[in-house]
Parts: sequence; C-alpha cells; structure tokens
Amino acid sequence: MTFRTIIPGEVPHREMHQILLGGVAPRPVAFVASLSPDGTANLSPFSFFNAYSSKPPTIAIGPAIAARTGIAKDTYLNILDTGECTVNAVTYAMTEQASLASSEYPRGVDEFTKAGFTKRASQAVAPPLVAESPFSLECKLVEHYPIRRDIGGNGVILILEAIRAHIAEEVMTDGEIDPHKIDLVGRMNGDWYCRAHGDAIFEVKKPRTVGIGFDALPDFIRTSEILTGAELAKLAGVNEKPVAEISFQLPDGLPDDTFAAAKIMLAQNNTAAAWQLLLRAV
Ligand SMILES: Cc1cc2nc3c(=O)[nH]c(=O)nc-3n(C[C@H](O)[C@H](O)[C@H](O)COP(=O)(O)O)c2cc1C
Repeated sequence: MTFRTIIPGEVPHREMHQILLGGVAPRPVAFVASLSPDGTANLSPFSFFNAYSSKPPTIAIGPAIAARTGIAKDTYLNILDTGECTVNAVTYAMTEQASLASSEYPRGVDEFTKAGFTKRASQAVAPPLVAESPFSLECKLVEHYPIRRDIGGNGVILILEAIRAHIAEEVMTDGEIDPHKIDLVGRMNGDWYCRAHGDAIFEVKKPRTVGIGFDALPDFIRTSEILTGAELAKLAGVNEKPVAEISFQLPDGLPDDTFAAAKIMLAQNNTAAAWQLLLRAV
C-alpha cells in the first residue's frame, strides 16, 4: 500500500471532515428526537454517535456548530435547554426519510411531520420516540463537552445516559437483538450508507481462551502463501499447540491437497481438523 499522510491544520476543514467520515466508517446513525422549550418536536440524524458504557448505559452524539456560520444545530440547543432526548435506531426502510429529516428546517419545524414519522410517547422523558424504529433509548444529558474552542474547534460532544431502552419483539430471537432481523444502516462518507443485511453480517467467534498467537505457529504454516491472515488467526486462536493424532477422524471427501483441505475446514470453523491436516503434512 502507498500512504498519503494528512496534517489536519494543513488541509481545508471540508477535506478533513470527509477524510474522517471515510475512514471512521461505517458509523451507526442516531435518530435524535428533542423538544424546544415551547414543546415543538425536532428529529435529526447524527452519525457522530456511539455507545461508550453499559453501566450506566451511556452514549454520545456530536452535533457540530457550523464552521462557516457558527450556527448551532437545533438538536444541540434543545438538549442543552431541556436536558433530554430520545435516540432511535435507523433501519434500511427508514433511511430515505431520515435523510429528508436532516434538511435544514428552521427551528420550530417538526421533522416528524416533514419526514413522515410517527410519535410514540416516551415513559421517562418528554421528547417522543420514533414509532417506526425497532430500538430506542430515552436519554438524559450528562455532560456537554465543547471540543477545543481555544483553537477554533467547532465540534461538540453531548454525553447522554439512557434511562429506558425499548426493543421491538419482532427484531429479537431468544431474548436477544437479532442482527439479521433489525436491518440497521451505517453511514459512510459522501452520500453512501451500508446495510447490515445478508452477507454483510458475518460471525467471528470470540476467542474462548488466550490464543497461542501467530509467533507460535510452525514456520511452514505461518509463512505459507496459501493461508490468509484470517485463516492463520483461526489456527493461532487455539490455547495450546495441537499434536498430531493418528486417530483423529477427518471428514470424508476432502481434497488431497493439504492446504486446500485445511482451508475448507477453517471456513467451516473446524479448526481442530485443519490443525490435524496440517500436522500430518509435516
Ligand atoms: C445520516 C446522517 C448523519 C448525520 N450526522 C451528523 C453528525 O454526526 N453531526 C452533525 O452535526 N450533523 C450530522 N448530520 C446533519 C444533521 O442531521 C443536519 O444538520 C440536521 O439538519 C440537523 O438538524 P437540527 O438543526 O434540527 O438539529 C447528519 C445527516 C445525516 C443524513
């Protein structure tokens, strides 16, 4: 790979913004509902958003102050004024409407109405939930952190504690949120989004123990140009280097080529069989 190095102060702010959006991606989208002091609802998407703690459940959003005009987002002003909001997940089906809600409507315009979303009453805060969203948090403002005003920064972090969570039963399997059912989107840079759907969702087994590591793999495995980094990681994830076991039953129908057969076993997460194949080849 050939790298370009960026020094933030030396490129226009717009360019730096797009660089961050492109590299820190995909980002979840918080669809934030807030109320102005006169009670008008506001609804806007924010992808400078993530969860940072589960005890207490704490998230943060970054509603920027416009670099050119110094104008603050209505969401930001509302949360500072009232101390409350709801944060609602954005599904694939909601994305076009969420984008419409991001239009710069003046303060006092209700984006639920403009973008065609339905209000559902919250239990513990005044701003409403987005009825179309399968996952919502009722939040209280914990901390407001303006980022580097001393050097002309225009970012802001609002740290929010979730005091209620609402999950649609329809997106759950066995009491847990099912990533195949919730159909969430992520924000990339430019006008691009991604959808957590089909092949885009894949499983990586958490290491159950401390793996032996790449450095403990036998040289002929570690330096093989046939096995990928992902395949080597599965082999290096075992907690003890296996020894060849003559009695180990390998599945039928594997190719004669050891590495090809090991690759098939690794694709099926049968790491024990992959190890035995490779050890027999030494
Ligand atoms: C998917 C998406 C993500 C966005 N993320 C952010 C963000 O993280 N920070 C921000 O300041 N604006 C973000 N925007 C733009 C705001 O949604 C937009 O400025 C909106 O009009 C703000 O509304 P408000 O002034 O009613 O709060 C995003 C827009 C979209 C469509």
